Amino acid sequence: MKIRHAKDYADMSRKAANIISAQIILKPCSVLGLATGTTPIGAYEQLIDWYRKDDVDFSEVITYNLDEYRGLSHDDPQSYHYFMREKLFDHVNINMENTHVPDGSNPDADAACAEYDAMVNAAGGIDLQLLGIGNNGHIGFNEPDDAFSKGTHCVDLTESTIKANSRLFDSPDDVPRQAYTMGVQNIMHARSILVIANGEAKAQAVYDMCYGPVTPRVPASILQLHTNCTVIADEAALSLCPRR
Ligand code: F6R
Repeated sequence: MKIRHAKDYADMSRKAANIISAQIILKPCSVLGLATGTTPIGAYEQLIDWYRKDDVDFSEVITYNLDEYRGLSHDDPQSYHYFMREKLFDHVNINMENTHVPDGSNPDADAACAEYDAMVNAAGGIDLQLLGIGNNGHIGFNEPDDAFSKGTHCVDLTESTIKANSRLFDSPDDVPRQAYTMGVQNIMHARSILVIANGEAKAQAVYDMCYGPVTPRVPASILQLHTNCTVIADEAALSLCPRR
């Protein structure tokens, strides 16, 4: 696990966008695993800026998002389908047919999740997986548990995640209680992984991910075992970690 210090959110975002754009330049038909949430927004903005300057070309890029709330239609402004269009896809030359987000509108969880895994496999797996991390150490919507999850599956969100995500909804009651998420095994199969984190609220989770025991109680801790994982975090998120 390589840990890179960023000065602040802008520096973290630029460094992350650098790695993503390098991946695309080296392999234009890269399969990217993408994340939603507040953390990657700055990196997406940076990539849009570089696309407008003709420095990065998304025309052959294929994307698979980590997760989606169960029960939301693709056009629901709270859905991750909507988020990805608004924050990235609508602003670059990506072919929308090459973008994929688990189908939260399919009530048949088993079918929706199996179909998603089959699509990722058919694409040859993920070249670069971008991850944020939850305050409780979750990755995707893989919450602390007794065992690491495998393929894409339906999860019940924990109270802590519902509370953390309620900032984006009118009220906590509006936050969906379930989501479809890639499993920890899907994530570990990515050929490279980039985790980004900022802010003091993530400090404990970042410490546990990088220096704690590898345990499903902190799903991100398994990333210590990945052979090509980079963490980029700002000073606040690294405040509990040993200095370089
Ligand atoms: C989002 C996702 C989540 C977030 C995590 C951090 O697709 O998979 O694991 O990365 O909850 O969220 P933010 O960035 O909002 O702090």
